[in-house]
Amino acid sequence: MSRILKLVALVLIVIGMGALVFGIVGRGFTGSDQQKPGSSQSTTRGKAQVGGPFQLLDKNGAEVTDMNYRGKYMLVYFGYTFCPDVCPTSLGEMSDAMDLLSPAQREKVVPIFISVDPARDTPEVVGDYVTHFHESMVGLSGTVEGVTAAAKAYRAYFSLGDADAQGNYPVDHTSYTYLMGPDGQFVTAFRHATPGKKIAEALASMF
Ligand code: NI
Repeated sequence: MSRILKLVALVLIVIGMGALVFGIVGRGFTGSDQQKPGSSQSTTRGKAQVGGPFQLLDKNGAEVTDMNYRGKYMLVYFGYTFCPDVCPTSLGEMSDAMDLLSPAQREKVVPIFISVDPARDTPEVVGDYVTHFHESMVGLSGTVEGVTAAAKAYRAYFSLGDADAQGNYPVDHTSYTYLMGPDGQFVTAFRHATPGKKIAEALASMF
């Protein structure tokens, strides 16, 4: 393939990925904040096809699937514990959202951090990491196949970067916080750095 053709192919791939990301968020924000779960709009949410089954490991190395959280709203975020600022910001906002809910509302929500860097983020490392953000936060890791499949189900992108001399490497990753309903269906996605107050308001409008 000529250099020009390769460039054209690359540009098309980038445009395609952009369209996918904006498509997800566009659908996510179409009024779903005000929808009650189980309303007639739930089929619209289902069509977004974000989310799905996952098989991961909790802090004790025990297998956890999406079914463990049926009946609760899930706030799902993909990242890695070595992340310098993006993940801590998102998890901080998630934590703020939890704090803004009443204890009764908080019972209905589980904030979940899923590592896409299981080589460094063992189940124990992730489990410990999330305790710095919120007592109710669940940290999940797993096999490379397990976390890759989970990210794929949520249409979350991640890519491991080149290691430096010390063996440290960055991980580029999607920074949306996904809100899933008690039925496991996609409700909406919050952009990076969405204030916890906004997330709490969206959640409170569901209850
Ligand atoms: Ni990050």
